[in-house]
Amino acid sequence: MSASSGAAWWQTGVIYQIYLRSFQDTDGDGIGDLNGVACRLSHLLELGVDAIWLSPIFPSPMADFGYDVADYCGIDPIFGTLNDFDRLLGKVHRLGLKLILDFVPNHTSDQHPWFLESRSSRSSPKRGWYIWRDPKPDGAPPNNWISEFGGSAWSFDEASGQYYYHAYLAQQPDLNWRNPDVRAAMLDVLRFWLSRGVDGFRVDAIHHLFEDEELRDNPINPGWRQGMSPARRLTRLHTMDQPEVHDAIAAMRKVADEYDDRLMIGEAYLPIDRLMAYYGVDLSGFHLPFNFHLISTPWQPAAIAHLIRNYEAALPSGGWPNWVMGNHDRSRVASRLGPEQARVAAMLLLTLRGTPTIYQGEELGMQDARISPEHVQDPWERNVPGLGLGRDPVRTPMRWSADMHGGFTTGRPWLPVDATSIADVCRQGGDPTSSLSLYKRLLRLRKAEPALSLGSYLEVGHSDSVLIYERRYDGRRLQVALNMSADTQTLPLALPIGKTLLSTAQTGIAARDSDRLLRPHEGIIREVQT
Ligand code: GLC
Repeated sequence: MSASSGAAWWQTGVIYQIYLRSFQDTDGDGIGDLNGVACRLSHLLELGVDAIWLSPIFPSPMADFGYDVADYCGIDPIFGTLNDFDRLLGKVHRLGLKLILDFVPNHTSDQHPWFLESRSSRSSPKRGWYIWRDPKPDGAPPNNWISEFGGSAWSFDEASGQYYYHAYLAQQPDLNWRNPDVRAAMLDVLRFWLSRGVDGFRVDAIHHLFEDEELRDNPINPGWRQGMSPARRLTRLHTMDQPEVHDAIAAMRKVADEYDDRLMIGEAYLPIDRLMAYYGVDLSGFHLPFNFHLISTPWQPAAIAHLIRNYEAALPSGGWPNWVMGNHDRSRVASRLGPEQARVAAMLLLTLRGTPTIYQGEELGMQDARISPEHVQDPWERNVPGLGLGRDPVRTPMRWSADMHGGFTTGRPWLPVDATSIADVCRQGGDPTSSLSLYKRLLRLRKAEPALSLGSYLEVGHSDSVLIYERRYDGRRLQVALNMSADTQTLPLALPIGKTLLSTAQTGIAARDSDRLLRPHEGIIREVQT
């Protein structure tokens, strides 16, 4: 399709996020690895996705499970070797898929040689690679900034008598992107992997890349309530979304553009108007600044219609939209909306205009697992226990089969395999009513119908329970009607309807052609006769 439409692979394609630790273990250590991805590629082909985004694979003490990188140009032995990586990449490409890596530019591990050197003395040539400041006269940290994972964002280094800044854990010191040597070194990291053949990057925590140079205190957040994350006590006025970030993003993008057809995605949790700046001046920034708003918008037709309208209207000219329904940091969709509405959400995600990203396990309808205190792994939960901030529940291993530990590992899984909520890949694959079968049908239709990937978006209407929109391409009109309620709904008489192509309910599609009823929790895709 791309060749004839002129669209790029990442515009028509669907991205699948692999949280590597929990995908497939092949060496029995209870942690997923690169060879595990290689041996499960058939699942992704059958599912019908186009690109894989791998969570960090680099050597790391794993204080934040790979988001604390100790060497940007290697592979952590837990996950395999560079050879394994090259083999995987070759296989991915031979199968016509793309591979995207996670790039973590905001911070390194405190075990990265750069930081060890920086820490070694105030006069170290790498001192300026990180953000070091003197204590206040009373010995307190330089300002009131709070770490995303709780506690002060400053840690004191006894030996050199200064504090260093970390937006996340103390084991994740922030790099100083105002230092040209840091920038040059990090851009070389991109070149290292792009030259190896990776198809792009998902750039981690980009909104944190710069902080206020004067280190002004963040203002108190009047909206903060007991039970919310401690980091939200303050608004992040001086620690997030600083103007200098756009120049750094443009520099990353320029490197990607030295190569053919590569993709840059940015992770930025921002309101729509501020997110748009991440496309860059004249689209010189990210191809896809991740749009997380479906995760936070109330699941009601009016609210979702409003979100789509606002997002579409805010896009810069030529900017390509994208939609995310979940990831390794956020509660799973089937837990947020319930298993029935998770199916409707899948139809929404895969029929909106823009590149969708599916988080591993969503195709099975996986839910947040209950993690007992002795199994807690996430440093956020450990730092700030009991507030429900921990991300372990959304990171439990994939369930592939009825084998021990769901076929994920022959050893002891790093997080328990959740056997309570859903059937495994094998069983769902043989069941036409399963979530997996629905995802496959949706992805197949999306491939067959350019209207669903490239078509324009047209809001048709909504009620308290139903959201209706159209996708149009080259004279072809497809209508999507989503029943976001548990009751049967009647579609308006004025609405033109034609052949039903797909329903989230499993049976009787043919019989539905002329009727105007939507069953409880049903979404349908129909042709519109013109
Ligand atoms: C991003 C990642 C998250 C990680 C954090 C710090 O938000 O998605 O998992 O903990 O950055 O790198």
